[in-house]
Amino acid sequence: MELQKNLSSQMDEQLVYAARVAEMVKANYSLQPKACVETYGCQQNVSDSEHIKGLLLKMGYELTESTDDADFVLFNTCAVREHAEARVYGNLGALKHLKRRRPGMIIAICGCMVQQQSVADRIKKSYPYVDILFGTHVSHRLPEFVYELLMGKKRVFNISTENRDIVEGGPVSRDGSLKGWLPIMYGCNNFCTYCIVPYVRGRERSRAPEEIIREAKEMVAMGFKEITLLGQNVNSYGKGEAHGINFAKLIRMINDIEGDFKIRFMTSHPKDCTEELLDTMAECQKVCHQLHLPMQSGSDRILKLMNRHYDIERYLYLIDYARKKMPDIVLTSDIIVGFPGETYEDFCETLKVIKRVKFTSLFTFIYSPREGTPAAVMDDPVSREEKGKWFSELLKTQEAISREGYANMVGKTYRVLCDGQGRTPGSMSGRTDGNVVIEFAAEPDAIGKHFNVEVKELTNVLNGAITD
Ligand code: SAH
Ligand code: SF4
Ligand code: F3S
Repeated sequence: MELQKNLSSQMDEQLVYAARVAEMVKANYSLQPKACVETYGCQQNVSDSEHIKGLLLKMGYELTESTDDADFVLFNTCAVREHAEARVYGNLGALKHLKRRRPGMIIAICGCMVQQQSVADRIKKSYPYVDILFGTHVSHRLPEFVYELLMGKKRVFNISTENRDIVEGGPVSRDGSLKGWLPIMYGCNNFCTYCIVPYVRGRERSRAPEEIIREAKEMVAMGFKEITLLGQNVNSYGKGEAHGINFAKLIRMINDIEGDFKIRFMTSHPKDCTEELLDTMAECQKVCHQLHLPMQSGSDRILKLMNRHYDIERYLYLIDYARKKMPDIVLTSDIIVGFPGETYEDFCETLKVIKRVKFTSLFTFIYSPREGTPAAVMDDPVSREEKGKWFSELLKTQEAISREGYANMVGKTYRVLCDGQGRTPGSMSGRTDGNVVIEFAAEPDAIGKHFNVEVKELTNVLNGAITD
């Protein structure tokens, strides 16, 4: 089977492979085979999995949520903390028995974790039933890898980093139909000293504005009510590109697209978050007043060791500026507890800042050493047990702050997008502009619609009632 080599784009070439695979799959199975994709890690991975699912559909598979009845199982992995990797190894171990029962099944693994050479080597050696392993730079080539396997290759392993192009034009199978992810850039250049992401995702590269606008328009036409722009550091969108469109300008362009939809974005790095961006958020009607601005630590000394390139004065300036421009803004952040060399005094600085800012909610992590990062070889004298105590103190402090924030919402009315069923029977669940969940009585056909909801009380969740 000679494949055409003169195709215009890399994706066209892959779609030819996908069609070949679909033919072979059709001949091999009496029923349509099923593929299950399990995703670990951040929204970037969730979005990548949607592209992978798009390719699997082109290869003739139907999608299933369960590994039990799957003919093709793929794990899209994360490397950000040790716990994320341990879960993958555990679940990979369980697949061994599944494959013994169903010898024809294909097991594939991809994503950030396997982009590390040491992990790829370990899987090659200790998990012989993994058929395909591929890295973050070549995930668009999945059809080619499956084709090679079906043509008789024993195993396909590829974590090449040669391809730095963004491959456009692939199929996407989106998980939802209301809220969608839109990647605007890939990779990261920041090398925070604790973080593995720049090593496993490569250098920062931005998609062309016209591609992003095309996809945003497509999503609006499909009926999406919320588009979340994705990147490890969205504030540096377009840096070094000739088109001169920075993140604030990109937001304005998306805001100008006609339709009833909202815009969110993540993640913003405080060092690149500008007044221009905050002004743009305030001025653009479709942009939600929600900002996730990872602080990591409240101690300038630790921020320096983390290579974060801002200090707390600058961080608080941005928070105050955002609140001045958007008094209703919902602020969230990421905090790492127990970075190497962090003392209890440093940690108390973090507590001090979170009490001052009063974030709506926090994502908190105990520092996890990542092989190959500068922090992994720094002196780390504080015990895990001690860090655990600090961590509990942080959680307790934030819990009280969050609860106070939610309690302040009682009696006020919010515009919410209903996006599913509530936890109490008969109730529906929706999210405010700031992404806060409110439950209220409504019929199931409320999904996808906006309502004004008055918050009545705070129990485990906020409960409200529709006012119009
Ligand atoms: N690019 C984003 C976040 C990427 S990872 C940003 O810069 O904010 C998400 C969060 O995981 C980080 O904000 C950080 O708080 C946490 N994290 C990253 N590496 C970690 C590590 N080695 N140990 C513990 N937490 C980590
Ligand atoms: Fe990791 Fe820092 Fe890049 Fe975020 S900005 S992905 S924390 S290196
Ligand atoms: Fe994990 Fe990769 Fe995201 S390491 S957090 S899945 S970019």
